[in-house]
Amino acid sequence: MPLLLLLMAFLLPPGAGAGEIIGGQEARPHSHPYMAFLQIQSQEGLKTCGGFLVRNDFVLTAAHCWGSTITVILGAHNIRRQERTQQRTKMRRAIRHPGYNPQTNRNDIMLLKLARPMRRTSAVRPVALPRGRARVRPGARCTVAGWGLLGLNKRTNRLHQVQLTVQSDSRCSNRFGFYDSQTQICVGDPRKRKSAFLGDSGGPMVCNGVAQGIVSYGDRSGTPPAVFTKIRSFMPWVNRTMRRFKQPCET
Ligand SMILES: *[C@@H]1O[C@H](CO)[C@@H](O)[C@H](O)[C@H]1NC(C)=O
Repeated sequence: MPLLLLLMAFLLPPGAGAGEIIGGQEARPHSHPYMAFLQIQSQEGLKTCGGFLVRNDFVLTAAHCWGSTITVILGAHNIRRQERTQQRTKMRRAIRHPGYNPQTNRNDIMLLKLARPMRRTSAVRPVALPRGRARVRPGARCTVAGWGLLGLNKRTNRLHQVQLTVQSDSRCSNRFGFYDSQTQICVGDPRKRKSAFLGDSGGPMVCNGVAQGIVSYGDRSGTPPAVFTKIRSFMPWVNRTMRRFKQPCET
């Protein structure tokens, strides 16, 4: 079963009580205007994921976030509040990658066609997707945001973010039997006792303003590195799938 990954940016200083959290930080409200909060109705019950707006009428997320009904909230900072910046809709259709394999977590990517297009505002706007051949190299520092847990018993309603470093593929292939360097990225420095982030599944890893990864899975304990879906390798599928639905008029 794919792990539901949670935002666990924490750092234990010497002598700190277990679970004390001092890493990661609350995001400045609406500084990640592409972030989507997903409420998912699935066979296992209600669950939540992150996602991100890539066109006015499309959200990208992980395939393991699939459900029969998904409510999508854009423009949120505190997801328990009714903020005026929020725009809510349902999915019209959830399109998992046809090669998604829940046993190996390969091809963990899904497009959500929204029931109505989102209105662009200062709190809601799509993020850029990779173009051309440029790749994310080990050592690159990228940002991941999410509404997941901050620690074992610490919940948050407000968007948090953490900066993570891309690792060499060998760090993940040594650790995860099904790691595939063609379609996945290894993220999070194992030498740093800080680290252990895991953003809500489905959330984006953004490097230089471009969404390059999707939070997919990691170690159950939250120890880095973790595995992200490599968006660049799926761009032909993303483009083809979105082209099947006409771009709605800009509102
Ligand atoms: C996907 O579409 C964008 C925008 O039309 C384009 O710039 C990009 O090159 C396309 N990528 C692939 C792999 O088809």
